[in-house]
Amino acid sequence: MKRLATVAAALATASIPFTVLAQEVAPANPAAPDAVASAIGQVVYQRYCGACHGTTGRGDGPLAPELRTKVVDLTRLAANNGGKFPFFKVVRVIDGRSGAKGHGSADMPVWGEIFPKTQGAQAPDPETAVARMTHYLWSIQEPPAPASFEPARK
Ligand code: HEC
Repeated sequence: MKRLATVAAALATASIPFTVLAQEVAPANPAAPDAVASAIGQVVYQRYCGACHGTTGRGDGPLAPELRTKVVDLTRLAANNGGKFPFFKVVRVIDGRSGAKGHGSADMPVWGEIFPKTQGAQAPDPETAVARMTHYLWSIQEPPAPASFEPARK
């Protein structure tokens, strides 16, 4: 945690890409999602994402029928990516500030802008909140999948 604080402090002064923090929470090529990050991520997920994506991530939340865009089944992200969980793509999509597809649309908030303004994310910064939720989503993939740690920026 101390190292995380150091990275966060460095982020505040220099413009290090936020993916440095994601890598901090997601050590290089782990075999499985981090249990602690994923447990915290699940709490945040239920609070901010379940209304649309559903409590189990299948896209069947109570708000889903009201939206113009079909809500994605988040348990199939790996299956739809050749069996590997696209870790950094999911980080970018949730954060939304990079303009990755699926975010910043009228139906899908840009969470990277929202988390800094909220106490509810239970994280020191939006990058950590997003990374933890990504671990949680990784943990609910069906079937369970290794992660694809593609380069964060192309
Ligand atoms: C207001 C409803 C709504 C909420 C709340 C919401 N989402 Fe979404 N989400 C959507 C919709 C709709 C899409 C599909 C958008 C598209 O395809 O353009 C989507 C897409 C996604 C995708 C992309 C899936 C893919 O296949 O690329 C991810 C990942 C995701 N959401 C995660 C989250 C997380 C994590 C949260 C909570 C922080 C969240 N969403 C909150 C509606 C929502």
